[in-house]
Amino acid sequence: MSDIETANYVLTPLSGDDRADLLAHLGDAQTVEHMDIEPLSDAAGADAIIAWAMRLAGSGDGVRWAIRDRAGAFVGTMGFNTLVRERGSRGEIAYDVVRPRWRQRVMAEVLPAVLGHGFGTLGLRRIEAMVTPGNAASAALLERHGFVREAVLRDYAFWKGRYWDQWLYARLAP
Ligand SMILES: CC(C)(COP(=O)(O)OP(=O)(O)OC[C@H]1O[C@@H](n2cnc3c(N)ncnc32)[C@H](O)[C@@H]1OP(=O)(O)O)[C@@H](O)C(=O)NCCC(=O)NCCS
Repeated sequence: MSDIETANYVLTPLSGDDRADLLAHLGDAQTVEHMDIEPLSDAAGADAIIAWAMRLAGSGDGVRWAIRDRAGAFVGTMGFNTLVRERGSRGEIAYDVVRPRWRQRVMAEVLPAVLGHGFGTLGLRRIEAMVTPGNAASAALLERHGFVREAVLRDYAFWKGRYWDQWLYARLAP
């Protein structure tokens, strides 16, 4: 999967080089509050995510990029958790920005580029996102970018010891 560049950010597939930054980022309890993981507590947790991301990229069924600014600072991750090409053409995006950079328009710049990649280079018809109810920032971001909340998927996922509903958001190709 190719790199993506915007005016201020570069997205490259997550690798071992991102280990320390990923640990600091996803070790933050507030950042992972609405995500499907506990805060990372050690390097093994970061390594497991990097190994998952590298397997995903290798399979061609998805990708997770590290997002860095032009000075090289790590500002978050973004990617396609799934890519479906049989009997449909769709992908599911996921994203997280380091907390000191929240509300500084990182996603406002990166999300359109990733959507352009999905609808353009990857030729997707439909891009989806799953949001945990209560994640107002993520829901507002998606709605601002033309996603429609299509459904509440009841008890759709299990993590942190319980089942969670998920809001299914989707946007169709222009
Ligand atoms: C959701 C998240 C990625 C938003 O990224 P961001 O770079 O801070 O967002 P931006 O600054 O680019 O904001 C873009 C738009 O998103 C919406 N938005 C972002 N944060 C918001 C907040 N806290 N409350 C309400 N709307 C918000 C707004 O519509 C905003 O546009 P506006 O500023 O013109 O009103 C970030 O809050 C985050 O990483 N949260 C923790 C991880 C997470 O929950 N990921 C999503 C899992 S589904």
